[in-house]
Amino acid sequence: MRFRIFEELEMVREIQSILSPEFDFDGVVPWGRRLSEYRAFFALDGMADVGPVLDAGGGPSSFAAEAASAGVRVVAADPIYRIPGATIAARFEETAVAMHEGMRRAAYRFDWRYYGSEDAVHRLRREALALFLADFEAGKAVGRYVPAALPKLPFADGAFRLAFSSHLLFLYGDRLDFDFHVAAMRELLRVAGEVRIFPLFNLDGRPSSHLPGVVEALRGDGVRCALREVPFEFQKGARRMLVAWRG
Ligand SMILES: C[S@@+](CC[C@H](N)C(=O)[O-])C[C@H]1O[C@@H](n2cnc3c(N)ncnc32)[C@H](O)[C@@H]1O
Repeated sequence: MRFRIFEELEMVREIQSILSPEFDFDGVVPWGRRLSEYRAFFALDGMADVGPVLDAGGGPSSFAAEAASAGVRVVAADPIYRIPGATIAARFEETAVAMHEGMRRAAYRFDWRYYGSEDAVHRLRREALALFLADFEAGKAVGRYVPAALPKLPFADGAFRLAFSSHLLFLYGDRLDFDFHVAAMRELLRVAGEVRIFPLFNLDGRPSSHLPGVVEALRGDGVRCALREVPFEFQKGARRMLVAWRG
């Protein structure tokens, strides 16, 4: 038992060392979005024909839970899925406090038209966490939540029609370097026919400096890439997703 607790703490430290904590705080960042937000990030009209779909770095988002309820074949992959749901939940309150402070300091960097207020953002995060936790154990048992970390995923070539990654690649570009981004995109394109990434800005609210080089490297591989407008903006100016697909 003591060993398992030690192992769990080690895992949390490992994830902390991978992640750039949003707004300068330490933690696993259990801060997940809802399906409605993913639909806006990735310009999805409906969910009926998107599966099988991968949510890479899904964290405590309720995307997988809600999409599965809607009948979509979906898998979420994230290193935090090795941690019990109760531990993820316990970190949520700390995260919420730190997020409140971060958003207060950086409010001017956000466009509030989509969410309306900071309270609405927090309400959505709590809804997402509750939906995720309600699905986590049962979903993990049927393979919906897979503990895995980019740039190496335990899935077969072409296992998914579509892969999403929200609020991980490019956003954490100060911690995850250029080579990681190229390797992660190649891995996503190995397992999925089409890959969509949002946002393409760093945490500091500026366009990711990795993006042009990543697109150039992928095009060099024969991958088709497009930057497409989406019906969502929170970080001011971050209105585009990257769509990449094998030619
Ligand atoms: C800010 S959360 C975003 C969660 C979710 N995608 C959303 O937008 O609501 C970032 C997630 O990326 C996960 N993550 C960190 N490093 C990762 C890696 N190398 N591969 C996959 N996921 C990773 C974290 O554990 C965390 O759950």
